[in-house]
Amino acid sequence: MSFPVRLGLVLVIVAAIGGAIAFLGRGRQQTPASARIRWESSQQCRECHRALYDEWLGSHHQIAFTNPEVRQLSDDFRKEECMDCHLPRPLAVTGFGKRTLPRRTHFDEGVSCITCHLGKDGSILARNDRPEVPCAPRQSSEFLAVDACASCHNQHGTTDQFRASHYNQQGTTCASCHMPEVERVRNDASKRMGRGHEWRGCHDVDTLKSAGRFEVRRDGDELVLALTNVGAGHNFPTEERHRAVDMMYRFTGKDGTTAWTRAYRFRQPYRDEQEPVNPGNESGENTQLPAGATKTVRVAIPPGATLAEARLWYRLTPFVGDDSPQSTLLDEHTLELQ
Ligand code: HEC
Ligand code: HEC
Ligand code: HEC
Ligand code: HEC
Ligand code: HEC
Repeated sequence: MSFPVRLGLVLVIVAAIGGAIAFLGRGRQQTPASARIRWESSQQCRECHRALYDEWLGSHHQIAFTNPEVRQLSDDFRKEECMDCHLPRPLAVTGFGKRTLPRRTHFDEGVSCITCHLGKDGSILARNDRPEVPCAPRQSSEFLAVDACASCHNQHGTTDQFRASHYNQQGTTCASCHMPEVERVRNDASKRMGRGHEWRGCHDVDTLKSAGRFEVRRDGDELVLALTNVGAGHNFPTEERHRAVDMMYRFTGKDGTTAWTRAYRFRQPYRDEQEPVNPGNESGENTQLPAGATKTVRVAIPPGATLAEARLWYRLTPFVGDDSPQSTLLDEHTLELQ
């Protein structure tokens, strides 16, 4: 093909595309407000939902694709299957409750506004129909249901654990705890109620502390340690098989202080792990504490002990000690024995 012919062809194509865009643009003016804007990035919501956007920014949903922990374990996402939930396409596209598919855009948005809120028809899903509002949200009960979280949060059974708990019967949802009610201020300074978009979980000390009630007492020549799951709507600890909760104790007597010893570990072991989580458990047995349940362990008090100390630890991975930044002290008790 000679140069002028090629140039001519390019011009024809450019003109055709331009014409098509102009034509479609005209057509779009006539469609309803909800479908008029093409929603593809969380950035588009920022302008009008600033406070909420700032909550989401820095949340584990926003960092899902940039999180260094995830990049390391996924070999910088060379393990492509890791993208399914860490850089997902909208839930509604694959269907609520079904595993999401990966996208190739907006890498710094991880689990974005679009992932959860974009409907199949391009409109925004919400609790209410609000045709008068600029983003024209549409009511969707599927979007509000626990299934919306299940698409990504049942890999290790968190949603099933929740469904089996008393919280589910009471009409509580994942959002009741992880998206608490917050006050929002409209442009005209009037107020309305909204829902927090931070999704605090195991990286937040206060959330972790709300999960368990740790009690320690003496019963004759035994120290009794008990943990009750009073605040997590699923097992404690839940999700990732790395997570562990440890009840630890030590005694002081005239001969000095014993080393910290583990009374019990709560954890779902890795699939190929042979060693049981605690002596007395079966190999592969899940020792996480279901919602509402109590686990009690009795330890013999050594003769002459004058003091007992007990601590409850949360660990992001099971391989770290008490001095690691990946361990969080949740509670501690000191008991005079004499
Ligand atoms: C041009 C401004 C504007 C943009 C852009 C915008 N919204 Fe909105 N949105 C609003 C206003 C105003 C309301 C109504 C708030 C109120 O109740 O007073 C609203 C309400 C909502 C609601 C709540 C509806 C309900 O149930 O009451 C949702 C959900 C929502 N927006 C999601 C989004 C998402 C997601 C995006 C980005 C993809 C977005 N919005 C972009 C202005 C906007
Ligand atoms: C089915 C959805 C899904 C897939 C697929 C998936 N993840 Fe995740 N991932 C999650 C969810 C949900 C969480 C949050 C729960 C948690 O932290 O325990 C998470 C959390 C993590 C965390 C913890 C991050 C932190 O800061 O503590 C790491 C690391 C991780 N994933 C790595 C991976 C790797 C590597 C792959 C691929 C082999 C992968 N994920 C595939 C859903 C998924
Ligand atoms: C499209 C997949 C997806 C959906 C849908 C989803 N999540 Fe997540 N969620 C993730 C991933 C991935 C992470 C972990 C990201 C990371 O740490 O890098 C996560 C992390 C979390 C965390 C843990 C934060 C922490 O401290 O580690 C909570 C809590 C959470 N999600 C709650 C929810 C709730 C509630 C819903 C439903 C309203 C929901 N998620 C819907 C993928 C999803
Ligand atoms: C009654 C309150 C409550 C309900 C309901 C609840 N959670 Fe949680 N969730 C917690 C608490 C407390 C923690 C911190 C303790 C822990 O990690 O188990 C937590 C932790 C988490 C974590 C962090 C785990 C990790 O390893 O990163 C995720 C993810 C999560 N919840 C998802 C969900 C999902 C999905 C649902 C609904 C199916 C749900 N939660 C229902 C209270 C709740
Ligand atoms: C993991 C899923 C998920 C993500 C990501 C998400 N939302 Fe939501 N959003 C929800 C759920 C669930 C509700 C609660 C609906 C209810 O119970 O009323 C909600 C409620 C809202 C509301 C109404 C309540 C309020 O506080 O004003 C707005 C507006 C909204 N989202 C906008 C956004 C924007 C903007 C983003 C991105 C910055 C975003 N959402 C990201 C799931 C999500």
